[in-house]
Amino acid sequence: MSTRSTAIRWEQDRDGVVTLVLDDPNQSANTMNQAFRDSLAAVTDRLEAEKDTLRGVIITSAKKTFFAGGDLRDLIRVTPETARELFEGGMAVKRQLRRIETLGKPVVAALNGAALGGGYEIALACHHRIALDAPGARIGCPEVTLGLLPGGGGVVRTVRLLGIADALLKVLLQGTRYSPRRALQHGLVDDVATSRDELLAKARAFIEAHPESQQPWDRPGHRIPGGTPAHPAFAANLPAFPANLRKQTGGAPYPAPRAILAAAVEGAQVDFETAQVIEARYFVELAAGQISKNMIQAFFFDLQAVNSGASRPRGVAPRQVRKVAVLGAGMMGAGIAYACARAGIDVVLKDVAPEAAAKGKDFSAQLCAKAVSRGRTTREKADALLARITPTADPQDVAGCDAVIEAVFENPELKRKVFQEVQHLVEPDALLCSNTSTLPITALAEGVERQGDFVGLHFFSPVDKMPLVEIVKGERTGDEALARAFDLVRRINKTPIVVNDSRGFFTSRVIGHFINEGVAMVGEGVDPASVEQAAAQAGYPAKVLSLMDELTLTLPRKIRDESRRAVQEAGGTWTAHPAEAVVDRMVDEFGRSGRSGGAGFYDYDENGRRTALWPGLREHFTREGARIPFRDLQERMLFAEALDTVRLLEEGVLTSVADANIGSILGIGFPGWTGGVLQYVNGYEGGVAGFTARARELARTYGERFTPPALLVDKAEKGEVFTDSR
Ligand code: NAI
Repeated sequence: MSTRSTAIRWEQDRDGVVTLVLDDPNQSANTMNQAFRDSLAAVTDRLEAEKDTLRGVIITSAKKTFFAGGDLRDLIRVTPETARELFEGGMAVKRQLRRIETLGKPVVAALNGAALGGGYEIALACHHRIALDAPGARIGCPEVTLGLLPGGGGVVRTVRLLGIADALLKVLLQGTRYSPRRALQHGLVDDVATSRDELLAKARAFIEAHPESQQPWDRPGHRIPGGTPAHPAFAANLPAFPANLRKQTGGAPYPAPRAILAAAVEGAQVDFETAQVIEARYFVELAAGQISKNMIQAFFFDLQAVNSGASRPRGVAPRQVRKVAVLGAGMMGAGIAYACARAGIDVVLKDVAPEAAAKGKDFSAQLCAKAVSRGRTTREKADALLARITPTADPQDVAGCDAVIEAVFENPELKRKVFQEVQHLVEPDALLCSNTSTLPITALAEGVERQGDFVGLHFFSPVDKMPLVEIVKGERTGDEALARAFDLVRRINKTPIVVNDSRGFFTSRVIGHFINEGVAMVGEGVDPASVEQAAAQAGYPAKVLSLMDELTLTLPRKIRDESRRAVQEAGGTWTAHPAEAVVDRMVDEFGRSGRSGGAGFYDYDENGRRTALWPGLREHFTREGARIPFRDLQERMLFAEALDTVRLLEEGVLTSVADANIGSILGIGFPGWTGGVLQYVNGYEGGVAGFTARARELARTYGERFTPPALLVDKAEKGEVFTDSR
C-alpha cells in the first residue's frame, strides 16, 4: 500500500511496518519548507490514528542526502517582525516530532545519506539511528558555522543523549560533520550499515526486537549523563565553559556559541517541553539577528556561487589536466605538488638540484605519514599519492605535462627564464600558471609565446591547509585558459575566486591595508598590546603585528618601494601611508625585520618562537594620552580593508561580490562573522548608508584614506547593497 502526500511518502508493508520516505517532488534535496511541514503534520495524524495496527516506523529518504535541514532562503529573510512566525512554525514541527517520538511504537532513522542540522534532528527524535556508510555522507549539527543553533530539538536531545559536556564539545559548539563511522564512535548514531538493503534490514530488526520503544529521557528516573548543571560536580566545571568559548572565538562577536551554551545549560535544568521552548527562543533570536544573515550569505550562498562556477567563463567545455609540471620545490611548490597528487594528478616537481626537488617531495611524504598515523588515509592510498610525484632537476622531464605551475623565487627575470626553458617541452597547448603573489600577470605573460594560455594561480600558505586560490586574469589571458585554471582548482578541492590583473591582485592588496592600519596605530602612540587585542576581538584569526612579523617587514617595504616607483613613473602621485615611517624606523633604526630575522614587533627565542611584544615599542612609540576608542581601533582595520575592496570593484579588478566575500574570509582572514568584506558593508548598522557615514567620520578623524569611494556613495544614495545580480 502506498499513498503520496506532498513531501513524505507513506509505504506500509503487510507486517504493519510503515516506512516514511522523505522525497520532496519539487526539490533535489529535502528541506524544512512548507510542503515538508504540511506533510509531517499529515503523517503524524495518520500514525496516531492507525497506531494500533502498526508495528513500527522507519524514516528514510529517496534522495541522495537524508535531509538537508532548514531552508536557508527563508531563514535569511527573517526579521524581528517575522520572528514570532518562525517561532510558531518551529514549535509546530517540534510538537510533531515529539508526537512521533512518543507514539509508543519503535521509530528508526535509516540515514541513507547526509543528515546534517535538521536532518540529524529528525534522527534524534527516533529511538534508534542507523547510518549508511556512504562516501561523503556526513552527520552532525553544523548550525553554529552559520551563526545559528539547532532549533529542531537538537540542543535538547543531544544534551539528554550524550550529556551536556559531550553535546556541547562534540556536537554543538564546533559543528563537526562526522563520517558515519566517527558518528558511531562518538555516540551520535547507534549502528552503521554498508548497503541500503542492510540499512533497512537492520531497521526492521530493531523494530522486531523493541516492540515498545521509548526514548531514554521519557523513561522514569532518567538522568542526564554526566549530571545536570545543578549537580555539584558539574557546577564546579561550569565556569570553565564561557572561558573556553572566549578561547574559541577570541572574544569576537559570534553570538551562536553563547546562545548554544545558554540553551544547553538552561534546558538541562527543566523538563523536556520547557527545554524545547527555551531552545526555540534562542534559535529565533539568532535567526533574526544580523550575524547569522552574514554567515548564511557567505558560507552558504556565496560559497556555493563561487564553487559552482559563477565566475568561470561560460560555454567553455571542461577539460581535465592530467599531468602538471610544478617549477620550484620550495615551500609553495612542495605544497602545490601535494595538493595536485592528492587529487590524482601526476606531478613533475622540478627544482635546480635533484636534492632540492627530493626535499620538496619529502614534504608530501611527511603529510602522508601523518595522515596514515591518524587513520585519515590508508598506507596504499598514501603510497599511490607519493608515486604520482616525480622529483627532478632535468627540464626534459616535463615532457607530456599539460599544465605548468611556476613557484620559483619572486623574481620576474627568473620566472621568465623558467617558463622559456619549459614552454616547448610541455604539451603544445599546456596551461601556463604562475603562483606569484605580487608580480603583474600581464607583464609576466609577455615572457611566453602563448600569452593567451598564461594565467595567475595564487595559492596561499600553507597550501595543504588554505582553501582558497586566487585566479588572476592577465590582459591577454583567454577564456579557455581561465576555465581550465578554474577546473584545476576545483579538481584539487580548493575554492577559486577570479580577479583581473592589478598590483597585489585582490588579496595581497587588501590585506596590506589591514596591516598598514595596525602598524600606523603603533606609530600614533597606541599601546601595541591594545592594537593586537583589537584585531583579535574583531575576529581576525591572526593578530596584526604578529602577521606583519610573519610576512617580514622588509618584503612589504620592497613591494611598497616598487609600487611607489611604478606609480610615479606612470605620472601619478604617491600618498605615503603613516605605517611606512614606522616600518622604516623598525628596520633602519632598530634592525628588526620580522620573525625570519629573529626580531620584529615581537621578540623570538632561538627556535623562532614568539615570546612577547618587543618592550622597545612602548619605549619608542607609545605615548601616554594617545587614547583611541577601542571601537575605532577595530573599525579602522575593518574599514581600511572594506574601502579598498570597494575601490577594487570600481577599478574592475574585482567583478564579483561573492568572490570578494569568500576571498576575504578564506584567503586573508577577514572575520567570518561579517560574512566577508562587502557583506560587512551591507550588514553594518544602518546598512550601506550607515557604513558610508561612519567612513566619513573616520576620514575626518584619521585621514583621507577613509574617504568613501564614489561607488560606495552612489550605492548609499540609491539605497542599494553590494550583490551579484546574475
Ligand atoms: P621558496 O624560496 O621556498 O622556493 C622557491 C624554490 O624555487 C626554491 O626551492 C628554489 O630552489 C627554486 N628555484 C629557483 N630557481 C629555480 C629554477 N630555475 N628552476 C626550478 N626551481 C627553481 O619560495 P616560496 O615561498 O615557495 O615562493 C615561491 C613563489 O610563490 C614566489 O613567487 C612567491 O611570491 C609565491 N608565493 C609565496 C607565498 C608564501 O606565503 N611564501 C604565498 C603565495 C605565493
